[in-house]
Amino acid sequence: MLLAQISDLHIKADRALAYGVVDTATMLERCVQRLLALPQRPDAVVITGDLVDAGRPDEYGLLRELLAPLTRCVPVYLLPGNHDDRAALRAAFPDHDYLRQWEPFVQYAIEEHPLRLLALDTVVPGEAGGALCGQRLAWLERALAVSGRPTIVALHHPPFASGIGHMDRIGLSNAPQLAAVLRKYRQVMRVIAGHLHRPITCAFAGTVASVCPSPAHQVALDLSSAAPDHFVLEPPAFYLHVQTDSGLVTHTAYVGKFGGPYPFREPTTSPQPAKT
Ligand SMILES: [Fe+2]
Ligand SMILES: [Fe+2]
Repeated sequence: MLLAQISDLHIKADRALAYGVVDTATMLERCVQRLLALPQRPDAVVITGDLVDAGRPDEYGLLRELLAPLTRCVPVYLLPGNHDDRAALRAAFPDHDYLRQWEPFVQYAIEEHPLRLLALDTVVPGEAGGALCGQRLAWLERALAVSGRPTIVALHHPPFASGIGHMDRIGLSNAPQLAAVLRKYRQVMRVIAGHLHRPITCAFAGTVASVCPSPAHQVALDLSSAAPDHFVLEPPAFYLHVQTDSGLVTHTAYVGKFGGPYPFREPTTSPQPAKT
């Protein structure tokens, strides 16, 4: 199975620039074009939160338009992040039935692919940080107990400290409780997250936790507790999780023109004309 992951789109109404700088709408369009032009079409796409910037209905309306070329071709699964609003998300995507598997949380199980997807809702309304309450953790425990199929657990807030202080202060508040549930099961191939706008990997609870970069802006790489909350326009990217004979392997796919592809071949030198 080939699963694409996108994260942290931060779409704003009327294609407004995020922070007055980032053209998130155009950058998502480019990301969708890149995904659809891949030599192998993904079997599914999961988008791990911060879909829009302020949880507004008009933002979700634009998001729906921007994602339409993708949703026409491949199943797309949406998760909320701290910038999202559950009710506005559900209202904008009435045909995405999985968003209504459980109320009030947007937490769901997708069973129709070789890899099972368990999506967790870490949103705490009004807060930038995330949490998994007892109800949400109990749901996860029940979901893992009923099937031993290879599983990806997706959530917005990563369950580990990255070293980037200002982001860690708005991280997942109860990662140890999530780890305690996951450690009881062996089928979780990966915990996939967003929120940090950078490609990051960490061993976690007997599996691997990874954070997907953004197709728009990235968080500045400053591994200090006092790091200023700055972003940078490093190359936009997304992830491709692919099952190989070695298990689940994750590739970073960049969005943009960087030259190539060129063949791995030395240039042939044309014979010099003989001197007379
Ligand atoms: Fe974000
Ligand atoms: Fe976030």
